[in-house]
Amino acid sequence: EHLPALLCALPKAELHIHIEGSLEPELIFELAQRNGVALPYASVEALRAAYAFTDLQSFLDIYYAGASVLLHEADFFDMAWAYFQRAHADNVVRAEVFFDPQTHTERGIPFEVVIQGLHRACERARTELGLSCDLILCFLRHLSEDSAMATLDEALPWQHLFIGVGLDSSEQGHPPAKFARVFARCRALGLHLVAHAGEEGPPAYVREALDVLKVERIDHGVRSIEDPALMQRLATEGVTLTVCPLSNLKLGVVSTLAVHPLPMLLAAGVKVTLHSDDPAYFGGYMNANWLATFEALPTLGAAEAITLARDSLKASWVSEAQKMRWL
Ligand code: ADE
Ligand code: ZN
Repeated sequence: EHLPALLCALPKAELHIHIEGSLEPELIFELAQRNGVALPYASVEALRAAYAFTDLQSFLDIYYAGASVLLHEADFFDMAWAYFQRAHADNVVRAEVFFDPQTHTERGIPFEVVIQGLHRACERARTELGLSCDLILCFLRHLSEDSAMATLDEALPWQHLFIGVGLDSSEQGHPPAKFARVFARCRALGLHLVAHAGEEGPPAYVREALDVLKVERIDHGVRSIEDPALMQRLATEGVTLTVCPLSNLKLGVVSTLAVHPLPMLLAAGVKVTLHSDDPAYFGGYMNANWLATFEALPTLGAAEAITLARDSLKASWVSEAQKMRWL
C-alpha cells in the first residue's frame, strides 16, 4: 500500500492552524514552570486526559486556559518554532498561521510581545527550514465588534507582519455580520480575509461570511452540505473550504471520519483542502489528518490526494510566482 507514503510525501500548504492550538501539554507544563504559573492539573498526563470534548465550547474553554502560560516573547517564539518544525517534518511547504491576539491582550500581554515572538519564529522557519509562512490575525467572535476594532487599531503599527484577518471562537449566536464594519476596514487596508463558518453554525453563516464579510476562503464550512444551493454556489465561485477532519471528529461535528462529508463536497465540485486546526488538542498534525481521513474514506485515493495537495497550494496567499514554482 503506497497511499500513506504518498500522503506524507506530498508538498502541502497548511491554511487552517491556530498557533495556540499547537501548544502541546509538555510545552504548557514547561512554560508554566518557567513563568511561575500555577496549573489546575497535576501532570502532563492529567492535562491530556482532560482533552475529551463534547462540542466546540468545551474545547475552547480548555484551549484558552492552556494559553494562559504564554507571557513573554520567548514563549510565543517557542510555541511557533515547535509548530514549524512539526509542519516541516510533514512536508508542509507553506503555512498561514492564525493567532488570537485578544486571548493575550485581555490578560495584559502587549500585542507587540505576541506578534514579535511569532514573527521571529516565522523568520527562523523561512531561513532554517525553507518554509514559506505568514501570520493571520483572528478576531474572537464571542467578543464585541468594538473589541475587534480596538485590536485592529493596536495591530496597525505591525501590519507589515501579518497578511490577513480571520474570525474564530464560539460560532453559534455570533454570526459573521456582527463583524461587518471591522472586516470592511480590513478589506480597505488590503488585508486578506477569511472566517470560520459552518463548523457548528448553519449554512446561512457561510453565505453571510461570503456576502457581508467578503472573505476569500471559508474555514470548515462542512455544514454547507445541508444546503444544495449553497453547494452549487461554492462550486461555481471556486470558494475553498479549509476542512479539518480530526477537529470535526473530536468536536462532534461528525460522529466518525467514515461519515465525514469530504467525499460529497469533492463530488459536488467544491474546492476543499485538509488541515489540522488545533493539532495539540485533536490528536495530530497535517499528516495525521491526511492519514486518518484516507484510511476512513476508502473511496479516496492517490488522485484525490494529489488534487487536495495542489488545491492547498493554489488556495494559499503566496505570490503567483511562488505558486508557479510549486505547481
Ligand atoms: N479556535 C481554535 N480552534 C477553533 C475552531 N475549531 N473553531 C472556532 N474557533 C477556534
Ligand atoms: Zn479553526
